[in-house]
Amino acid sequence: MKQLLIFCLLVWLFINYGNCIEHDSSVVINLKHALSGGPNPVFKDRGTITIPSLRLSQAVVHQKRLTDVERIQIQKLANDNDLYRINATVIANDEIERSFISTIKACMLAEAELDDRLSVSVDYMGRVIGVSLVIASKATCEGSNVSIDKLGEFTTNVYVRHTETGIIPDTATYIDKLQKEKEAKERDDHKDNRSFLAKYWIYIVPVVIVMVISSATNPEAQGGGQ
Ligand SMILES: *[C@@H]1O[C@H](CO)[C@@H](O)[C@H](O)[C@H]1NC(C)=O
Ligand SMILES: *[C@@H]1O[C@H](CO)[C@@H](O)[C@H](O)[C@H]1NC(C)=O
Ligand SMILES: *[C@@H]1O[C@H](CO)[C@@H](O)[C@H](O)[C@H]1NC(C)=O
Repeated sequence: MKQLLIFCLLVWLFINYGNCIEHDSSVVINLKHALSGGPNPVFKDRGTITIPSLRLSQAVVHQKRLTDVERIQIQKLANDNDLYRINATVIANDEIERSFISTIKACMLAEAELDDRLSVSVDYMGRVIGVSLVIASKATCEGSNVSIDKLGEFTTNVYVRHTETGIIPDTATYIDKLQKEKEAKERDDHKDNRSFLAKYWIYIVPVVIVMVISSATNPEAQGGGQ
């Protein structure tokens, strides 16, 4: 009985482990951005990001240098305190396309001299559930007129975030919380060196009760009370 249970447990763990590996996938993200501002932004190509393995989180970023016209457009967006928007279209290896719009203040992007981060959230099934643009540096939007010489090229870092849940995480604190909970649980699992009975009594006791009841309701059993 005990061996059988342990065997079943091992089989279950093996199957789950296999699933985790299968859930790796590659994605291509086509990035477009709007440099026109206003209520109806027009998206133009910005570049392409290829992530060959979501599990390994390595990305190949391909973005062209900006033209003088594009630099002046970004400078203008920043000076007008307008928004800079991207439209990230994710093409997964099952050919399904999903687009995510992300918006930041253009002045933050300009003050960070186009040094931005792309955060790609992936759910437990290996599907991309969100793409958002983040400025990592401490750009404060102080209204400085950033020279177009400094707006030549995006230096984008891509971060793949694996989430346990199906919802889109918006705050880093939420992810930290999930991570800490997971770690605490793993630590507990490691510590748990109690005996088999001590660990699984909550499953064994109901079975014993059912057996006792069924033998008690059996008229041939000794002391069968009806
Ligand atoms: C973003 O790009 C996709 C693919 O080109 C397009 O279908 C979608 O309408 C765009 N979204 C917006 C808000 O323009
Ligand atoms: C910002 O600087 C550019 C020159 O680099 C100038 O043409 C433009 O008028 C300035 N804009 C503001 C709002 O000061
Ligand atoms: C579990 O292991 C710790 C040391 O690793 C030991 O102190 C403790 O007594 C063990 N508990 C049981 C129930 O065996």
